[in-house]
Amino acid sequence: MIVAEKIMPVNVSSTLDVERIRQDFPILRERIHGKPLVYLDNAATTQKPLFVIDAVHHYYRAQNANIHRGTHYLSQVATFEYEKARGKIRQFINAKDNKEIIFVRGTTEAINLVSSAYGRKFICAGDEIIISAMEHHSNIVPWQILCEQTGAVLRVVPMHQSGELIMEEYVKLLNEKTKLVSVVHISNALGTVNPVKEIIRLAHERNILVMLDAAQSIPHAPVDVRDLDCDFLVFSGHKMYGPTGVGVLYGKQQLLESMPPYHGGGDMIRTVSFEKTTYAELPNKFEAGTPNIAGGIGLGAAVDYINRIGIHKIAEYEAELMAYATEQLSAINKLKIIGTAKEKAGAISFVMENVHPHDTGTLLDLEGIAIRTGHHCAQPVMQFYGVPATSRASLSFYNTKEDIDALVKGLHKVMEVFK
Ligand code: ALA
Repeated sequence: MIVAEKIMPVNVSSTLDVERIRQDFPILRERIHGKPLVYLDNAATTQKPLFVIDAVHHYYRAQNANIHRGTHYLSQVATFEYEKARGKIRQFINAKDNKEIIFVRGTTEAINLVSSAYGRKFICAGDEIIISAMEHHSNIVPWQILCEQTGAVLRVVPMHQSGELIMEEYVKLLNEKTKLVSVVHISNALGTVNPVKEIIRLAHERNILVMLDAAQSIPHAPVDVRDLDCDFLVFSGHKMYGPTGVGVLYGKQQLLESMPPYHGGGDMIRTVSFEKTTYAELPNKFEAGTPNIAGGIGLGAAVDYINRIGIHKIAEYEAELMAYATEQLSAINKLKIIGTAKEKAGAISFVMENVHPHDTGTLLDLEGIAIRTGHHCAQPVMQFYGVPATSRASLSFYNTKEDIDALVKGLHKVMEVFK
């Protein structure tokens, strides 16, 4: 009661017709352990609207053929649909040309592609690569592998206790040996929104390239690669309402052209003989083998779906929901939010006194509430805060104030069990 009085109610306004939107997601009608599903694990993967499910279904039922190869009708339809999806993605992130959109399996593969193909040609012993203290393992390990192979050195921008990068330290790290900065746009473990425009500007002043991991930002905020002026940007389809197994590497055309291929095989060549192979133009040069055609088409449908709602409206609604969730969780005794940056989006990590996050996750699951617990593939973040793991609630535009209330109620039950 006393707690309730302390809370300033946040008005989650009706910028979106969320009840209507929820009807687009069949899984939200499922019951888990007999309880209505409260899905708050959107940073791990988002649910899929019928529109996307239908696009994939329709492809397999009526359009299935291999692309870029056949003269027959179905192959041409599949090629047309796949390339149309590429165009939708180009438009969505405001890239200049479809050649700058490379379909990959996801964020992880995109980062590995750049570290491997760019790294093989342009990174030498003594060169430096900068990442940040809040990276996902997928933006740490590929660079460590590259450093081991080349003798390059990995530098890490430290962060404040709030989970904000220490920009003065970043500036100090930039020097004539720095070849590339690769940082996360929005942290999956903390929800911090990094000042990426400033990060890019400071690097570019010194002619240093910047890659952004946009896996957690692309579903939550407008991402305009030309406005940001990033050199590379990577994201996954399944975190933006699309299928798993498909994602995107955006790269400035000139850069992608300067890089050697990543994988060799079919569809990435112009001519092959035993003496010499020449490579295809972009984007095919980086798309060896039969790609995830259904995934690409499904991702195009996800872009259509997001566009129909409007990414600005999504950002606005989610910001209100995030503020509401932060207030409600902050009011729980013995719960501590990990990551208190001024700018946050998408995810709230927390720990509870005397309760292991895995127990929190298990007990909430029994209430039909899905959150993620663990290190969130960001072990250095856990080491920084001195915790083995956190619980993380992550939001989407189909979540409601009632979902947050259910989470809070569930957490009170958890406290009861462990008191
Ligand atoms: N990277 C995903 C997450 O944060 C899987 O949960």
